[in-house]
Amino acid sequence: MIILAIETSCDDTCIAVIKASGKSRPRFKILSNIVSSQIKVHKKYGGVYPTLARREHKKNLLPTLLQALNKSKISNFKFQISKPNIDLIAVTIGPGLDPCLWTGINFAKDLSKKWNLPIVPVNHIESHILANLVDKRPEFPAACLVVSGGHTQLILMRDIGKYKILGETRDDAAGECFDKVARILGLGYPGGPAIAREAHKLQTTNYKLQTNLPRPMINQKNYDFSFSGLKTAVLYKHKGKKYVKAAKDYRVKTIILGGGVSANDELRKQFAYKLKTINYKLNFLVPSKNLCTDNAVMTGIAGYFGKPKDWQKIKADANLRIC
Ligand code: KG4
Ligand code: ZN
Repeated sequence: MIILAIETSCDDTCIAVIKASGKSRPRFKILSNIVSSQIKVHKKYGGVYPTLARREHKKNLLPTLLQALNKSKISNFKFQISKPNIDLIAVTIGPGLDPCLWTGINFAKDLSKKWNLPIVPVNHIESHILANLVDKRPEFPAACLVVSGGHTQLILMRDIGKYKILGETRDDAAGECFDKVARILGLGYPGGPAIAREAHKLQTTNYKLQTNLPRPMINQKNYDFSFSGLKTAVLYKHKGKKYVKAAKDYRVKTIILGGGVSANDELRKQFAYKLKTINYKLNFLVPSKNLCTDNAVMTGIAGYFGKPKDWQKIKADANLRIC
């Protein structure tokens, strides 16, 4: 099955073409993965402006589609007169920025009508988790930590499509925390990579942080997070405690990481290190870095497991929950 996937939940216009096969042991081949970044547009404001992002998505969607189709080799520019070799369209419907989600959804609907193809609506958080399935198979149950610009959630995954939210941030998302810190320090947008670069520079000089930063809610018994008041990378350790506890409580076999912040080298390193110190076997999955931040490959994978829906009934849901 060839899937055309569209993701516009935030500030990246993403279109991918993937080939998927098999149900019990699904396999995925990435035929193309185009991410048209809007960083330059939003940089001067230190964050994403939804109306500006919508305008950019509208401008970028068609060229991004042409690039994705061309690169995938399933079609060339003739696609405007002949239908490309696609079986399904997958599109992110939420959570995300409402005007941005709608641009992707309307674009998907137009293509679906034009080419008479089914559309599968996709949850963005689930897609961040399923980004791990490109080349790996998780053993269930799994504890998934999704750390993105808009979300920090710890999710119990009993199977593909079976989720329970164990905990989530009470205030800022992990990525938002990075972005705000970077704004305060004048490091630019997006904050995550900018802070990671600064942290790396300090590490090479053996610099020791002079300030003790707060680690809110670290000793509370629930699985929730809080990042307000916490303004540096100390958050890694803070999160570490929570997922290990969840792993033990729910006897999980796999720890899954996903979302833009999981592209962070230090976070990946600390997870891998921490898991080695645990006295029972836990598999650890994290996507390759380019599949941690927003992309449409993960949307296509989620679409493969989802159900097509009548295009007239597909709507954006900015606050969509995974369960
Ligand atoms: O998943 P994502 O691309 O978009 C959302 O769904 O929100 O996540 C974007 C977030 C931004 O807050 C960005 O600062 C953060 O991911 N991020 C990082 C890194 N790369 C992106 N945070 C820490 N270290 C990174 N290397
Ligand atoms: Zn995301």
